[in-house]
Amino acid sequence: MEKLKFLVIGSGGREYIIVKALSETSDVYAYMFHENPGIKKLSKDYVIGKSSSIESMVEYAKKVDPDIVVIGPENPLAAGVVDALEESGFPTVGPKRDAAKIEWDKSYARDLMRKYNIPGSKLSMSFDNPEDAKRFIDDYGKPVVVKPAGLTGGKGVRVVGVTLKDNEEAKKYVDEIFEKNIGGLKRVLIEERTDGEEFTLQAFVDGTHMSFMPLVQDHPHAFEDDQGPETGGMGSYSMPDHKLPFLTDRDLEIAKKCMGGIIKALKKEGVEYKGILYGQFMVDATGPKLIEFNSRFGDPEAINVIPLLHDDLSRVFEQIVDRTLSTVVFRNESSVVKYIVPKGYPIEKTPGWLRVAEDIIKEFNAGIAYASVIEKGSKLEMLGSRALAIYSTHPDIIKAESSVENAIIYGVTGEGFRWRKDIGKLETIRKRIERMAKIREKI
Ligand code: GLY
Repeated sequence: MEKLKFLVIGSGGREYIIVKALSETSDVYAYMFHENPGIKKLSKDYVIGKSSSIESMVEYAKKVDPDIVVIGPENPLAAGVVDALEESGFPTVGPKRDAAKIEWDKSYARDLMRKYNIPGSKLSMSFDNPEDAKRFIDDYGKPVVVKPAGLTGGKGVRVVGVTLKDNEEAKKYVDEIFEKNIGGLKRVLIEERTDGEEFTLQAFVDGTHMSFMPLVQDHPHAFEDDQGPETGGMGSYSMPDHKLPFLTDRDLEIAKKCMGGIIKALKKEGVEYKGILYGQFMVDATGPKLIEFNSRFGDPEAINVIPLLHDDLSRVFEQIVDRTLSTVVFRNESSVVKYIVPKGYPIEKTPGWLRVAEDIIKEFNAGIAYASVIEKGSKLEMLGSRALAIYSTHPDIIKAESSVENAIIYGVTGEGFRWRKDIGKLETIRKRIERMAKIREKI
């Protein structure tokens, strides 16, 4: 089979794992925002450019002349990189700006869900001025979730009872969103709070066909036992049956209908969606509720599912751009991912460095997904965000989790770093099953 040439845009752990899988059968070129040492090693050529410069992404594509361009993060999608690349003749895995709007304007996704009666909806109101939003919070009376409508790198959502003390604090946060224009759209969503367990469902989409990936549970809180502020995700796990033990088959069906529903709704609006669709859900006593759609792979969730692929990712992406997507097959194994982060993450930027012994990590049946680090001599300097992830897959989740822990303990040295030891542990998963059972008992 003819070798394909890919250009991958982005430089985090998600993009590293995409590059790793593609480079097994294809030639990969990279447009990075910082020099990710893992991507650098796997790519034929790379360039470091601005995440905001669509022109330089297109310029580099013209130089490389790839068969397919893959966009990792949301910001270039929201800025219209796919429109620009396709105008220049490059087939692209990722939605155009009008389709990516389901992520960059959360009120658009909610409006479509209402208009087309898509399952998984919850009470959600959007406001273009703070006074109306605050009045609604007062009238509603129950605990709310406050979300800037635009992109905030996963750090804009605040929840009463978790990251906000009460509805009075929620109203103050509404003012802050408008004063600082958080999210960039001068719009806020006020939503009902849902109490339950979060989960992630991702799908490959070619405009018409969808193929779902294994379910994943991310751990957004900074510290063990789900304490501390929300982060981009400290780590995640998936199970060998591709389900999650606290979810029923009906829950999964509803989540799939919700994801399928938004693709069909967009189509009815004259908008084609192709690329990756990410659904973040919270299951409560009445079933799963959509928290948000993203127009890209999750990070860390991509690091769970891509290593489980039975099929060749290059060919899956080829099917997406050819609009011939068939069912994508994943191995029946569990996966565990844990991010190593600087000690102060995400509250303050603290310095630190790492050294990874790739041979030891490999001996423990684990891998490294390089993210926010750069090479400084024999060390990896941490840049302040999630530095690198250690991951493992195994039919038995106990083994996958202990491989990751041992790989970190024996294979990673340095200063100023930490990770969440509880992710993927049986006790942690059991707690979630028990919590969910209690929530379901209440109805
Ligand atoms: N893990 C959360 C996200 O990728 O948005």
